[in-house]
Amino acid sequence: MSKQAPRAQWASRLGFVLAAAGSAIGLGNIWKFPYITGQNGGGAFVLVYLVSIAIVGLPIMMAELMIGRQTRRDAVGAFIKLEGKRSPWCAAGWISVAAAFIICSYYSVVAGWTLEYLYRSLLDSFSGQPAAAIEGMFGGLTANGPRQLFWHFVFMILCLGIVIGGVQKGIERWNKILMPILFALMVLLFLNGLFSAGAWQGLAFMFRPDFGKLTPGSVLEALGHAFFTLSLGMAAMITYGSYLNRKENLLSASFRVVLLDTTISLMAGVAIFSVVFSVNMQPAAGPGLVFKTIPVVFSQLPGGQFLAIVFFLLLAFAALTSNISLLEAQVAYLIDERGWGRKRASAFLAGLAFVVGIPTALSYNLLSEWKVVAGLVFFDAADLLASNYLLPLSGLVTAIYVGWFWSGAEEKQQLLAGGAGWVYPAWHFLIRYISPLAVAVVLYFKVRDTGLFAWIAALLG
Ligand code: PHE
Repeated sequence: MSKQAPRAQWASRLGFVLAAAGSAIGLGNIWKFPYITGQNGGGAFVLVYLVSIAIVGLPIMMAELMIGRQTRRDAVGAFIKLEGKRSPWCAAGWISVAAAFIICSYYSVVAGWTLEYLYRSLLDSFSGQPAAAIEGMFGGLTANGPRQLFWHFVFMILCLGIVIGGVQKGIERWNKILMPILFALMVLLFLNGLFSAGAWQGLAFMFRPDFGKLTPGSVLEALGHAFFTLSLGMAAMITYGSYLNRKENLLSASFRVVLLDTTISLMAGVAIFSVVFSVNMQPAAGPGLVFKTIPVVFSQLPGGQFLAIVFFLLLAFAALTSNISLLEAQVAYLIDERGWGRKRASAFLAGLAFVVGIPTALSYNLLSEWKVVAGLVFFDAADLLASNYLLPLSGLVTAIYVGWFWSGAEEKQQLLAGGAGWVYPAWHFLIRYISPLAVAVVLYFKVRDTGLFAWIAALLG
């Protein structure tokens, strides 16, 4: 344990809720959720996603916050404190910190793209350009290694500047500034969508379920995304939970975070699809939705430059508040377990994330021929490893641990106190049976579909 007790704590409940919502609300909400909704046909997918949030996301988030608050340690230290250094449960902690490390490095590169697009919006580079030229800019950016490295660097420096300030004076303070601005920007874009010509079509696309379009694959996608969007399985929530006051009502705190996260995702969907429909473009654009379709759409709308600035600022803030939680999750490990000072730990880890992010930034240019595994460039391999394997794995182990092996049911019950009488049994049922089962299914299919079984079989000869 660190020598510098007492340990850091949030100054207020609002500070915690905003910081945890800041972690949860990220590129996943504004970039990924709308495009996977588009690819999976809209309404029915949204419904499945909402159910996944309720039966998998919320229970596991509560479990992670509990572990953090109970132990007041980083994710690795938390399991050590509960079960001892040699316990296999500590793997959950290690895997989650490893995932935080990997994601932090490539998330920063993608966040860098949003900074580039913000910069271009400020320069008004989209207005009056033909659609093909605007769409081509994205390929131009990913083909440009040095430019991506520059923005990746800028973004990591911003993260470092915040995390180095500490829990209250850095993370909490900045989330209290950035998150309200983020909400305001989102409301602006949402209203813009509602008043656009495509509003009805956008709303119908998001909320009118067409179950014919739902495939087993979309269910898995919804479940997996529920996990990613709430920052589960990557040490962030355990770490943020460890700064929580003992008196805090965990149930309502996590409920608020989940509510904010879900609201932002739904608003982002409506904001994006409405304007996309208003200029007669297609929603199923895939990952290019935000970096290609959206700039084209805004270039054709009155006030488009302003909208683009608002949009990319929103995206950049969302990415920033998420990435600082990933950095903090690792920093907490070095402080709590290795006795490092915060300054040194933050600088070291931000530097390391920058270096590890370099091959990611070069994945579609200099290193595009370098296939790390199974024909994947570095970026895709890192993403595959972290978000397809490590996150569900650590989430699964955590759910099983909390549901079945964490002794002291009374303690758990107490941690959940404040809710109605049925809340504890309901949560306990979900965390014991439903959440682990759902995550296990996701993990199984991810492993199968990405060919890991075949790979291992080949390895074993
Ligand atoms: N939850 C964030 C999002 O939706 C991403 C994230 C992943 C943040 C992992 C922290 C940890 O984009």
